Amino acid sequence: MQDIKTYVEQHKQRFLDELFVLLRFPSISADPKYKGDVLKTADFVAEKLREAGADNVEVAATAGYPIVYGEKIIDPSKPTVLVYGHYDVQPPDPLELWETPPFEPTIRGEKIFARGACDDKGQFYMHVKAFEIMLRTESLPCNIKFMIEGEEEVGSDNLGSFVVANKERLKADVVLISDTAMISLDTPSLETGLRGLSYLEVEVTGPNRDLHSGVYGGAVANPATILCQMIASLHDQNNHILIPGFYDDVQSLTEEERLLLNSAPFDEEEYKNDLQVNEVWGEQGYTTIERTGIRPTLELNGIWGGYIGEGAKTVLPSKASAKISMRLVPNQKSEKITELFKNHFESIAPKSVKVKVTPHHGGEPVVTPTDSIAFQAAQKAIEESFGKKPVITRGGGSIPIVALFEKELEIKTVLLGFGLDSDNLHSPNEKYDLANYYKGIETIPLFFKHFADLSK
Ligand code: BES
Ligand code: MN
Ligand code: MN
Repeated sequence: MQDIKTYVEQHKQRFLDELFVLLRFPSISADPKYKGDVLKTADFVAEKLREAGADNVEVAATAGYPIVYGEKIIDPSKPTVLVYGHYDVQPPDPLELWETPPFEPTIRGEKIFARGACDDKGQFYMHVKAFEIMLRTESLPCNIKFMIEGEEEVGSDNLGSFVVANKERLKADVVLISDTAMISLDTPSLETGLRGLSYLEVEVTGPNRDLHSGVYGGAVANPATILCQMIASLHDQNNHILIPGFYDDVQSLTEEERLLLNSAPFDEEEYKNDLQVNEVWGEQGYTTIERTGIRPTLELNGIWGGYIGEGAKTVLPSKASAKISMRLVPNQKSEKITELFKNHFESIAPKSVKVKVTPHHGGEPVVTPTDSIAFQAAQKAIEESFGKKPVITRGGGSIPIVALFEKELEIKTVLLGFGLDSDNLHSPNEKYDLANYYKGIETIPLFFKHFADLSK
């Protein structure tokens, strides 16, 4: 531990400088304009893995963006940790809300501001640096494999076939991922679940062209109004989702499990204050922790149609559209939920419009085990570096690959995240605290040490 701390202390500035280089690449996987930048980011990650000491580093081509692979096999009889992360980021829009540009990392108040600072460049890069430390201080106690992808933020479409085609190469005893959040540095925590996802787009079409809203308005169905009515009808007054069958497979927790979950520290006043909302909102009968952890949701992610430019234009739009995501919990199935939504949405459309539902990506929910050696190693590592036992929580976000690793490779995951929910993931002014970055770099080698020891 002392060796590690000394090493971090001596290389602090370089660890930050390197992360800054990584953060300057606008690796936006959603926007084809950035294709060249995304590819350069992959090359940079590969170069850094090589420099740190990884063997067999490869920028593996896929039908989409490449997957960066690297490994260090010290002894095939020792356990193996597979580190997963993603080098792509969300689009930074709306740009005007950033205090400093998203791809010019800036330190303000001991925090790194940049798109990807927390999700996930700052977090996966901790593993590259922890690996460097373990090699240089001769303390790497087991084998390590890295798999850093470039399409996580757009649904990891090509990762599944890569995993299936590389089962042997990816063999490991545990998958280790830092791409989630903890409560705070004072209250370290470990997420033990991720929600699934069903994401789709809907389009409502009325007349065959935009119409003068004075000449035709009031006599022809307005697809924007109809779309709003249809969407509004998806929740009842208790914020319960009204799609028939939606809750059929939802696993409910026992009272004890719910009590335990709700015993995690949570300050509702602080939460409201941070978001500048007067009230929290959600499904009646559940706490905020439950609403974001163990209950499924349906959210409108975007809605458009008609005239949204400067000034006024009196028009009745021909079409209106929306992007909708549903977060799923065990044992809901993404495909089934998508199907239920589609059938329901089509069935509630009035005759005056046509409706098209187009499914996007999905992912299955997971709950990671808490009785495994790997989870115990994570608990011990946190306790040692933070001086406190971690609180066990459920995450609200999704990392669809986790369920896929279980299905295809039969490997369970440990979510060793060091972000904070307030890090503005996917929002303007994304940040990552310097303290979390360095704490993560110190904690990861402890995980390896305990995992190797407990595996003996
Ligand atoms: N790192 C996040 C997921 C996350 C965030 C999990 C916070 C737990 C806590 C990941 O990059 C992400 O944003 N995933 C997407 C899903 C993907 C299929 C686009 C998400 O959750 O919306
Ligand atoms: Mn992420
Ligand atoms: Mn993300």
